[in-house]
Amino acid sequence: MASATPSARIAFSRRGFPGLERAALPDGTEVVLPAEGESPDAEGLIALSADCDALVISTPDQVGEALFAANPRLEVVALVAVGFDNVDLDAARAHGVAVTHTPGVLADATADLAFALILMARRVLVPAVDATRAGEWGAFDPRAFLGLDVAGATLGIVGYGDIGAAVGRRGAGFGMTVLQHSRSPKPADGIAEAVGLDELLQRSDVVSLNVPRTPETEGLIGARELDLIGPRGTLVSTARGGVVDEDALLAALREGRLHSAGLDVFAAEPLRDPADPLLHEPRLVCLPHIGSATVETRTAMTHMALRNVAAVLGGEAPPNLVPPLRG
Ligand code: NAP
Ligand code: GLV
Repeated sequence: MASATPSARIAFSRRGFPGLERAALPDGTEVVLPAEGESPDAEGLIALSADCDALVISTPDQVGEALFAANPRLEVVALVAVGFDNVDLDAARAHGVAVTHTPGVLADATADLAFALILMARRVLVPAVDATRAGEWGAFDPRAFLGLDVAGATLGIVGYGDIGAAVGRRGAGFGMTVLQHSRSPKPADGIAEAVGLDELLQRSDVVSLNVPRTPETEGLIGARELDLIGPRGTLVSTARGGVVDEDALLAALREGRLHSAGLDVFAAEPLRDPADPLLHEPRLVCLPHIGSATVETRTAMTHMALRNVAAVLGGEAPPNLVPPLRG
């Protein structure tokens, strides 16, 4: 990070962004961190970033008009994330604050996690792990923990961007037929056939959601769409909460209208209530929003975010400005 002004004050919404300790911040840079164990809410973020030139945040941090209005010194909000639905872009633009994100660098890690969800859900692995840990591995029962094949199945990817395409490559490697549906046409890649959404849902055994959260994708998958996937189908989402109607998903699983599902993202995060029905559905695998959570990927994301900060504070165009919201 070579060109930020020496007196820059950079606030980080969390302690412990991997790679921060090895980031080459210019002499004189003041790093502002929350107290150990603190997760600042919207008010807390405003206080934390007061009088700072840059604010580095992640997915749970909500940034809107109140924060921009409170800090006229702020020049850039840098997400250590690719999704940017938690930042009010209109307010940022109105206050002349750049908003940057970390596209591409997390595609493989997140696609790996989507694939882990596919395997865990389709092969009924969570009940199998639970039973084994509980000492319930009894006499051989040919009906026990029967899943459905992944090889030879059809994988449908909704949102064929960086992560969707990486999921597609994994699907092809597993011997799956791959379909994709995206907002704008994608060049043929020899892996996925482009189809309409309903056709994709009808033809797929496994559906992976890889769209951003926008007004257009809110509630994209509800009861009707789940019924198109059908009783031998698996749905996984590493996209954003709100893209899937969780009540409709639970109903479809309970009534046997969907085989299985895996979610890394939820309408309300974190899932705190141990009695939450989402946590007790045997055919639903829940993970705590960890798509990009590897040492290498999170380190690369932190460094990318800091390059964006350095560019803005150095008076240059940042390499990873978020694109204007469409749809
Ligand atoms: P990306 O490269 O921008 O890909 C998103 C794709 O979705 C684009 O191809 C986009 O089409 C398409 N799309 C947008 N709206 C659509 C719609 N209404 N119907 C169909 N397709 C639509 O983004 P990415 O890096 O793959 O990330 C995708 C999302 O994954 C992020 O926005 C984030 O919410 C989520 N994510 C989650 C985790 C996690 O930890 N679980 C990690 C990383 C990302 P266009 O080409 O027309 O724009
Ligand atoms: C994670 O959810 C991201 O958008 O990077």
